[in-house]
Amino acid sequence: MLHTIKKIGVLTSGGDSPGMNAAIRSVVRTCAFHDIECYGIYRGYEGMIEGDFEKMDARSVKGIINKGGTILKSARSKEFRTKEGRATAHAALKKAGIDAFVVIGGDGSFTGAMIFSQEYNFPVMGIPGTIDNDIFGTTHTLGYDTALNTVVEVIDKIRDTASSHNRLFFIEVMGRDVGHIALNVGVGAGAEEILIPEEDLGLDRLLESLRRSKRSGKSSSIVVVAEGDKIGKNVFELKDYVDQNLKEYEVRVSVLGHMQRGGSPSCFDRVLASRMGVKAVEGLITGKSNFMVGLKNDQMELTPLELAVKGKSKIDMELLRVSDIMTI
Ligand code: F6P
Repeated sequence: MLHTIKKIGVLTSGGDSPGMNAAIRSVVRTCAFHDIECYGIYRGYEGMIEGDFEKMDARSVKGIINKGGTILKSARSKEFRTKEGRATAHAALKKAGIDAFVVIGGDGSFTGAMIFSQEYNFPVMGIPGTIDNDIFGTTHTLGYDTALNTVVEVIDKIRDTASSHNRLFFIEVMGRDVGHIALNVGVGAGAEEILIPEEDLGLDRLLESLRRSKRSGKSSSIVVVAEGDKIGKNVFELKDYVDQNLKEYEVRVSVLGHMQRGGSPSCFDRVLASRMGVKAVEGLITGKSNFMVGLKNDQMELTPLELAVKGKSKIDMELLRVSDIMTI
């Protein structure tokens, strides 16, 4: 399928992440560099269905590399999951003369792009943007590094008050299905325990570990819990459980929530976004479609969208061992 691409659309879809603006900027400027028209598509696939497009040039994306969120807005479109929704989107793209698009988002957004591309033989390229780092085919998704730094900074602050009051804190971090954020911030912030979906620690081991912690002379403790943890209890239930079983602890809970998705992107995420945008546009103009750009061994590589969606991003089990050793 070799298309001569003249107009490329760019959209952000699903949960936002820091670095999305830097990626939009890169897509728009790479298009300008190659004399290709570029259109911003607002509110993800919702805006695609409604034909909510705006022509962008190199100057339209000035001053956004350092901004969190996404200037194009984002949405999770139910309508795009239907054949009718995709048909309306296709008609809107055709009407505007857009003949390829780059979608910045996570696996749900990629699944939509893949189905659309197959139905209409339409060139698409994905840029992985999610703080969860749960996409196969890249060691880092956009926003992940920034989120790690944001969370570590907050845990450091919570540790100050935990230590003043000799308290145990359960801190819930994002990660719907994976424990990348929890594991890395847990090691980075020196947490006493890390609960992630990939490893069911079990309540007994948690209690034992907390008892050991106390015996070793620690006065305060931090337990980082991934929201998708499979231990069977949420952070509030964990608090109640420890309250009942370990009277020596005074327990508090902190759910960090959506603050983890905001903020100015780190330098790493800005550079990654810039590289990904170039690779995505240049992939499209050299006839590639249905791929996701990703970082592997510090190189930009393309992974078929199907693999990116179906594959699993693996947790670094060695890091769990490192954490165990550090919390002796
Ligand atoms: O972006 C992914 C994610 O951060 C998950 O970890 C979390 O479960 C989800 O987004 C929450 O997103 P929303 O509130 O937008 O549905």
